[in-house]
Amino acid sequence: MKIAVRDAKDADFSCDALVLPVFEDEGLAPYGEIDRRLDNLPSKMMADGEFRGRPAEVFLLHTYGKVKPSRVLFAGLGKKGEASGEKARRAGGKAASYLRDLRGTNDIALSTSNFSRTLPQEDFVEGMLLSLYRFGAYKKEENEKGLRSLTVLSAQDWKERIRWLEEVEAGTRLARDLVNTPANDLTPSALAEAALSLKKVKVKVIEKKEAEKLGMGAYLSVARGSHEPPKFIVLTYEGQGEKAKNQKAPVVLIGKSITFDSGGISIKPGEGMEKMKYDMAGGAAVLGAMKAASGLDMPVDVTGILPAAENLPGGSASRPGDIVKTITGKTVEIINTDAEGRLALADAIGYAARSNPKAIIDVATLTGACSIALGNEAMAMMGNDEELIGAITAASEETNERVWRMPLYDEYKEYIESDAADLKNTGGRSGSLVTAGYFLKEFAGNTPWVHLDIASTAWTDKDKAYLPKGATGIGVRLLLSFLKNLRA
Ligand code: BES
Ligand code: MN
Ligand code: ZN
Repeated sequence: MKIAVRDAKDADFSCDALVLPVFEDEGLAPYGEIDRRLDNLPSKMMADGEFRGRPAEVFLLHTYGKVKPSRVLFAGLGKKGEASGEKARRAGGKAASYLRDLRGTNDIALSTSNFSRTLPQEDFVEGMLLSLYRFGAYKKEENEKGLRSLTVLSAQDWKERIRWLEEVEAGTRLARDLVNTPANDLTPSALAEAALSLKKVKVKVIEKKEAEKLGMGAYLSVARGSHEPPKFIVLTYEGQGEKAKNQKAPVVLIGKSITFDSGGISIKPGEGMEKMKYDMAGGAAVLGAMKAASGLDMPVDVTGILPAAENLPGGSASRPGDIVKTITGKTVEIINTDAEGRLALADAIGYAARSNPKAIIDVATLTGACSIALGNEAMAMMGNDEELIGAITAASEETNERVWRMPLYDEYKEYIESDAADLKNTGGRSGSLVTAGYFLKEFAGNTPWVHLDIASTAWTDKDKAYLPKGATGIGVRLLLSFLKNLRA
């Protein structure tokens, strides 16, 4: 969808539908002229309680030529005192998907007469853009219509804001597409191709042989049961300008990239296994964020690492009891081949830590326990550095990609001590969200590091205001905000 900005009056702009955001406790005050020209029908309908301006409530009226827009769509923002970016995002999402599903609406507009400083207009537009995503690549007929254009009616300069919004949308779309693509097509090799197609980013793919030489025994053990070759994908983006020059070391973003997780020899139950194509959602988020960061020419140096592999129970698959050696020299006893994410990430984190980066952030669909703890409402965050944790928390508040911190008490070490090796890859059921995080911590050394478990937020089984069913693209906006706020 094309986004444009025009300094035009609400009532005088020709379009198929004009979106009018309404505060519950303010009503139609900002839209006096439209109300008058529609014979006060809008205020009657509010007085009757047909539309009240509740959060994400929408109401459509035809205008029969009385104003230039052919239709007006009122979109509820809730109470003014309780306004938030997230309420705006959700209202925008509801409004745009409603109009998308309507016949006859192609070119829509958004009135900004009603936005206060407390309610960023771009959040509303962000919600609109994110809600319009559809994954139709495998349907013979893609008969769902889209919207052609959105015009923001504003006298302000929107150039930078539109650039930001378009990159956020494109990065999120890339992440969602990769996650939604089934594992027969989205193999580790296909993920490497997707990385190679990014502009302004250098990509190096470490093949199996070289990974062996580097000593990535844990990562490689995951891929053994599959005919798909593992691809350890490393992306580098060099930031533009003074700020990037002052940045001494890059930020490293690591994304879990298991293109399909059957569990391996410790095979998962059949029910719901088809969803395990989303076990590369961390890698997709890293690619999406790097696409947007480079598209925006952000002044930061960023390295992305996707240790891609497929976890299948083939004839040469790893077995429970096997011991593997990581790039750090630490050995790991594989208790459960279904705890494969941390094996791949251990080598990725160890590889990253060797070059003393500014920070390491890993994003991973790591544990089922994440959803037991937090449901679908937040990702779990663990880390070894208060400043980095603070920066991620701030980015989380900006984007409403929620994080909730979990502890990494020293006592958890005991849970993952092995009789035969330095560590074991599972610590039993109790505390399995945090013992997974503790396992990763062992490979970060002194590098500031944060782990984000997105197992329960990377996929949604139901449509949400601006998150259509399926892959959510979570992490893209959080990482991007984090990078935007970064100081050299
Ligand atoms: N990819 C899964 C975690 C997962 C589960 C993500 C459900 C999304 C939805 C991970 O590799 C896994 O299998 N974890 C196991 C670890 C266990 C064997 C210690 C788990 O959490 O059950
Ligand atoms: Mn698994
Ligand atoms: Zn997994």
